[in-house]
Amino acid sequence: MKIRVLGSAAGGGFPQWNCNCRNCEGLRRGTVRAHARTQSSIAVSGDDENWVLFNASPDVLQQIRAFPGLQPARALRDTAIRAIVLIDAQIDHTTGLLMLREHRAAHQLWCTAAVREDLSAGNPLFNVLSHYCGLDWREVPLFGAFAMHGAPGLGFEALPLTSNAPPYSPHRDRPRPGDNIGVTLVDAKSGRRVFYAPGLGEMEPHVWASMQMADCVLVDGTLWTDDEMIRLGASQKTSRAMGHLPQSGPGGMIEWLDRLPASTRKVLIHINNTNPILDEDSAERAELAAHGIEVAYDGMELSF
Ligand code: MLT
Ligand code: MN
Ligand code: ZN
Repeated sequence: MKIRVLGSAAGGGFPQWNCNCRNCEGLRRGTVRAHARTQSSIAVSGDDENWVLFNASPDVLQQIRAFPGLQPARALRDTAIRAIVLIDAQIDHTTGLLMLREHRAAHQLWCTAAVREDLSAGNPLFNVLSHYCGLDWREVPLFGAFAMHGAPGLGFEALPLTSNAPPYSPHRDRPRPGDNIGVTLVDAKSGRRVFYAPGLGEMEPHVWASMQMADCVLVDGTLWTDDEMIRLGASQKTSRAMGHLPQSGPGGMIEWLDRLPASTRKVLIHINNTNPILDEDSAERAELAAHGIEVAYDGMELSF
């Protein structure tokens, strides 16, 4: 199984268009050692030929251009993307569907019933796209295993987790099971497992159990501190209230990742532009390295 990180940033990307925080301004001016990042998405393949897209980021066209593996050029109109999975209904994970409307057939689209509901009402992408290529919806089973047509060598297991519904959703701040999921990607041959959850607000026992079973965890790296956005004056909400477990502090992601076996590969993804770990010379980045935790970057490839 091969995983290609298409976009490693949280919503807004890095640098964010209207942001002049230390990171965004520093990246533009060249005074902070950091790399630009596009918004949250990965691609997964079991045979290096057919790919499953996890999340359709607003930057999907740029991400496809940056990864030739997604364009095999076998016909006038072609793609190696055989299916798309949405782990929630957030703008940064779904807007790219509009950019993929020229597909010659309906996209094989996997998401929960809760996500489909938000994408049929508050942000009616399902309705809009029915006038273009259309979406061939397959329901992601909560706590279930599933396989995809056209994605040989891969198995998937989804679980509901607590993060948050999008700001436009009637379920914002009152998320239901299925508003957010984590997915374990399983290599059918080797049985090796990667747990993927770019939005993870609470370490519930079933989530922790899946992380302990994985050979690699690719998990929420949005914010370093719980009050990061408040202290910056960028938001009124804590990291946890937005559905993202912060890395530092008691009960933070670092503490949890420390409890996993040393052999588990630990990678943070969905990193917000304000997060000090984006500065490769920061103390926070050094702290992650000391804990054996990696920071995903656009173009990163993981093989299992
Ligand atoms: C999130 O991950 O909390 C959202 O993508 C935030 C947003 O939509 O900007
Ligand atoms: Mn997001
Ligand atoms: Zn910024």
